[in-house]
Amino acid sequence: MRIIVTKDYEDMSKKAAAIIAAQVVSKPDCVLGLATGSTPIGTYKNLVKWYEEGTLDFSAVKTVNLDEYRGLPRDNDQSYYYFMHDHLFNHVNIDVANTNVPDGTNPDAEQEAERYEALIASYGGQDLQLLGIGHNGHIGFNEPSDSFDKITHCVDLQESTIEANKRFFATIDDVPKQAYTMGIGTIMKAKKILILANGEGKADIVAKAFFGPVTPQVPASILQFHPDVTVVVDEAAAAKLPR
Ligand code: PGA
Repeated sequence: MRIIVTKDYEDMSKKAAAIIAAQVVSKPDCVLGLATGSTPIGTYKNLVKWYEEGTLDFSAVKTVNLDEYRGLPRDNDQSYYYFMHDHLFNHVNIDVANTNVPDGTNPDAEQEAERYEALIASYGGQDLQLLGIGHNGHIGFNEPSDSFDKITHCVDLQESTIEANKRFFATIDDVPKQAYTMGIGTIMKAKKILILANGEGKADIVAKAFFGPVTPQVPASILQFHPDVTVVVDEAAAAKLPR
């Protein structure tokens, strides 16, 4: 595991984007596993900038996103489909047919999870998977639990997550109660993993995930067993790492 400590969020975003850019340059038809959340927004901004400057070409890149709410249509501005188009896909020359997010509107959850897992396998898996980390150590929607979920599945969101999300919706009834997520096994099959964290609020979980015991109670801790992980954290999120 390589740990890169950066000055601040801007610096983290630039270095993370540089790692993704290197992947795209060295394998123009690579499969990128992508993530949503506040953490990667700056990374996507840099990728868009380098595309605009002519440094990056996404025309042959394929993408698979980590997760999506169940029940939200694509045009809902809280869907992860919407987020990805808003922050990246609409601004680079990627072929939208090569971008993939679980379909939140499929009424058959089991079929959707199976379809998504098979799709990733048909691509030969992710060359590089980008991840954020939740305050509780979750990656994707793989929340702390008694075992590691292997493949793409539908999860019931925790009450605290529903409560935290309600500010984004008109009423509590509009807040999704379930989500699709790649499993821990789906994530671990990626050839390379790039995980980002910033801000002092993430300092405890970053230390726990990468220097604590490997346990499904801290889902990101499994990454200690992956052969090619790069952790890019700003100084604030690195504050509790052993020196
Ligand atoms: P954040 O979310 O980037 O909004 O902090 C990270 C995550 O929950 O994976």
